[in-house]
Amino acid sequence: PMDVRQLRQLEFPQLNDYVYLDHAGATLYSERQLTRVMQELQSGLYGNPHTQARKSAHTSRLVEEARNSVLKHFNTSNQQHAVIFTSGATAAVKILAESFQAGQHGAGLFNYLLDSHTSIVGMREVLRSRGFVVRCSRTELELESATSSSSDGRVLFALPAQCNFSGRKLDLSIVDRLKANNKDAYVLLDAASFAATCPLDLTACSADFVCLSFYKMFGYPTGLGALIVRLDRVANGESVLKKAYFGGGTVQAMVPSGSFVQQSPDLAAGFEDGTINYLSILAVRHGLWALEQLGGGMQQISQRVFRLAQYLARRLSELRHSDGSPVCLLYTDNDYTDWTKQGGIVAFNLVRCDGSFVGYSDLSSRAENYRIQLRVGCFCNVGACQRYLDITDEQLLANLRAGHVCGDGVDLVDGRPTGAVRASFGYMSDESDADALVAMVTDNFVITKPMPVLLAAAASAPLMSMSRDELANLCRGGQSAASKAAAESHWPHLGRIFLYPVKSCAAFEVAASWPVDRRGFHLDRHWMVVNESGLCLTMKREPRLSQIRPFLDIQRRLLILNSPISDQNAVVPMDAGHQTAALCLHSRVCGSRVRLLDCGQAAADWLHSVVGYPCRLVRQDGDRLAKTGEQAISLANEQQFLLLNEASVAHLLDCIGPESPLDLSQLVARFRANLVVRVASQCPRSPGLD
Ligand SMILES: Cc1ncc(COP(=O)(O)O)c(C=O)c1O
Repeated sequence: PMDVRQLRQLEFPQLNDYVYLDHAGATLYSERQLTRVMQELQSGLYGNPHTQARKSAHTSRLVEEARNSVLKHFNTSNQQHAVIFTSGATAAVKILAESFQAGQHGAGLFNYLLDSHTSIVGMREVLRSRGFVVRCSRTELELESATSSSSDGRVLFALPAQCNFSGRKLDLSIVDRLKANNKDAYVLLDAASFAATCPLDLTACSADFVCLSFYKMFGYPTGLGALIVRLDRVANGESVLKKAYFGGGTVQAMVPSGSFVQQSPDLAAGFEDGTINYLSILAVRHGLWALEQLGGGMQQISQRVFRLAQYLARRLSELRHSDGSPVCLLYTDNDYTDWTKQGGIVAFNLVRCDGSFVGYSDLSSRAENYRIQLRVGCFCNVGACQRYLDITDEQLLANLRAGHVCGDGVDLVDGRPTGAVRASFGYMSDESDADALVAMVTDNFVITKPMPVLLAAAASAPLMSMSRDELANLCRGGQSAASKAAAESHWPHLGRIFLYPVKSCAAFEVAASWPVDRRGFHLDRHWMVVNESGLCLTMKREPRLSQIRPFLDIQRRLLILNSPISDQNAVVPMDAGHQTAALCLHSRVCGSRVRLLDCGQAAADWLHSVVGYPCRLVRQDGDRLAKTGEQAISLANEQQFLLLNEASVAHLLDCIGPESPLDLSQLVARFRANLVVRVASQCPRSPGLD
């Protein structure tokens, strides 16, 4: 195989400006693989394999060829195993859950490992409804000890060959041990994560069922996976798999008006309901080709992704804050020393100097700015999340009560992470991917010197007034005159302060000083405009809002609104507002609920004349209420303060070039920052701005 740099240039141009570290989510397809697929499709006519015709027979032959290539890839043949094509690993295990029979003695037992993917755990509901006893084992030892106690009834064990959370590989000799003492023990090996980057030898491994998804192995096609079944365990006269549903192609004969049906004797045909995804199935041969020819074969891929994970884990674990405390908490049980025990996955969370966790959503959105794709959360593996993060069942339920559901952005509950960050490698990854992640973490999360406490100090004070100079001084950390001068050229200078009294309307610039309260700048995003149904109008929804200029007259406690569309101003007493039953008293801002007071008919009429349809001015009454509790935040989307570096905007302006329709000050205004700072020295470029 060619050198990786060349491989990336020729075969994976999509990686040129992107750092892709989510191969365990889905890996990438190569140029030549796609070309081969397209050439095959363009050069032939492929009929539905169920049709009795020459072109259909040709498709059927190619589908059988694909089945055989899959079997060869796993070092077996159609004499030992059958490949049932499915839409993915999940669909494969669903088939198994619906058709696995308990046997003649006993109820049947389904026993899975705790760190199984949700798709495996989901089998328990189907099997339980079919009379199986269900058990979850926390460790392999516990799983093995279950074998001796399961003498009656058939047992189905389910285990992941590789944990998709941490990359931990199981010692596959456990499969033999699970079956050794019980001829009625069957093993489902979830190879969705493992088979993506590791060689799986089904002659050596006696698993009875194996599930996988092809996009995890070679990126294209999606929507195709397989259940691989060991024939001698299911085709020995005993009914191990029996399905109730039949569809086109799965029966040999049936009487539509009666109850007679005869399923196809061919195992795969009997389980592939309806027309198979035959065009995608043809593409499988080209994906397998890419693994061999471009990746150098599974053995090489496996060692390569392991070495990359080892490298990344080492670099992350070496990161230290200025006080010597570690930055990264790795979730592993094998220290990345042995490729037979660890795959190409690194799972971690970041920790600040004070020991508090960085939320994974924060890390993921910063990574996006650097064009890095990671996966964060629990990766559909709640059991592994419990295992590595030490989360009890009770805490899982408490997290749910606190508003955390699978796949949302709630990364911390009571300061504890609800999931982790996962970086995973493919055969086309290289060290530059790991380096980019480490550089991003270093830039954003490693504390190299004590931080000034500008905003924290401001936000914790009940209500205080600070001049721009005082704020700027606080920003410099209150240094002595001598060190101040030296630091002057590096510290940002606070240039301008903006407030946005009415959400989504124009800015109000602070001339000299402004009070700060616990929600941020006093009266910043304190009002908003709602339509007749109480829905908040945003600038995206209603661009005319941007022309409404609010002015805050603190002395007289008035909010004054003007607009080029109207020759009159709206003058609203700041403390005006009453609850109107007919109007919304609650609304939602970025998922949290907020109580609102209506600011009266005069303001509503003025807004109607400016916006062109009925709407009203409302103001915030009390803190916002999110699922995680009260939030001391105004009607701003997420945070109390937005700080912008003018130098970054100047760089952006440079990139746009002379054709930019906006000058620096206009471009700065587009970012709607509260604090605009200037850094005298050249500031490092943020890749996000590119
Ligand atoms: C270990 C494991 N099992 C099962 C699945 C489910 O695969 P699919 O979503 O392709 O059906 C995944 C997917 O991430 C996985 O990693």
